[in-house]
Amino acid sequence: MVKSTNRILLVLCLGLGLTHCTPTKDSQGLKELSDYPIGTAINLKSTLSDSKKLNLTVKEFSSITAENNMKMFRILPQENEYNWDATDAVVAFAAENQMRLFGHALVWHSGTPKWVNDRIAADSLWAQNFLNEYINTVVSKYQGKVAGWDVVNEPMETQGGKLRSTAWLNALGPDYIAQAFHAAHTADPNATLFLNDFNLERDPLKLEGFLDLVEQLLNNNVPISGIGFQMHYRMDIPDSLILKSLEKAAAKGLKIHLSEVDLIFNTHDDSQAGGVQSYENFTPEMAQAQAAKYKNLVALYHKAVPKAQRYGITFWGFNDRDTWIKPFFKIKDWPTLFDEQLNPKEAYWGFKEGLEENMN
Ligand code: XIL
Repeated sequence: MVKSTNRILLVLCLGLGLTHCTPTKDSQGLKELSDYPIGTAINLKSTLSDSKKLNLTVKEFSSITAENNMKMFRILPQENEYNWDATDAVVAFAAENQMRLFGHALVWHSGTPKWVNDRIAADSLWAQNFLNEYINTVVSKYQGKVAGWDVVNEPMETQGGKLRSTAWLNALGPDYIAQAFHAAHTADPNATLFLNDFNLERDPLKLEGFLDLVEQLLNNNVPISGIGFQMHYRMDIPDSLILKSLEKAAAKGLKIHLSEVDLIFNTHDDSQAGGVQSYENFTPEMAQAQAAKYKNLVALYHKAVPKAQRYGITFWGFNDRDTWIKPFFKIKDWPTLFDEQLNPKEAYWGFKEGLEENMN
């Protein structure tokens, strides 16, 4: 059972109308219990339209990642039509609230607009110039405002250890990855630059291929400074496997970002609408089990990743109302820390306890 003494104290305190109660741990946001940033993906429009969501975002988190607004298809939907409004708003929000802003994602097969894919396929010289120009334009515009970037997102095939066959790979060969990092580093030498992918925690072959790529980049003096584990994970992925995977990655000496954390019960085949609904209802037992697994995530992160390499833990949304999991995979699930009414779940208290117990 997740301990609830603090919670009960706070409820009593508030119930008695004691305005000068000593603050308990419960009045502290997650961000206050950690010496590395705790983040969330954000849809700024939706956040600003709901005061409860806004207050929770600011109270709990010290880092934000734009869920969609900094993807290429949003920033450059048409040729020569850079669209900065949404991105500028996220940058301003982060600054106003003294949050770290993490940039997601410069090069990503799913984030590349069709017009770019078409031109890449037709003209590799154009592809080469565009890659440099796009990265340079975006990264220099936000130099000093965006702390780090997912420079290449999902470079590996969904399964196994090969590079993903994308328009970029087809046009420029494997070197497109190194070129993207060089361009980002030139545009902002102080930004922390990440290679980010999914299922690294559970697919040893994929992890091996991914870490071989990291090794090659390092050997070639490519300015990569971090590894992102998306961590869209599942209740039945063994914690022992997650620990081993994180340890292997941390051995490269780079920053490790748990960059898109959520934790589901049902399964999917990693493709859109590919969900399989096995759990129809969220029972109290499931809530407890999820809390225990979220709690242990903190312990695993601390055990596997030396302090200096902890870039942070970022949730891909913090409530079960807005989670991408349900519309994307077309399943019902309960992947996050807060429920659909934006009330903290057991998962929240479990994760918080994990932070409290691992503060040193
Ligand atoms: C997702 C968003 O959350 C959805 O709103 C969108 O429809 C699809 O993309 N890996 C990533 C993220 O790197 O960018 C994805 O975000 C989730 C999977």
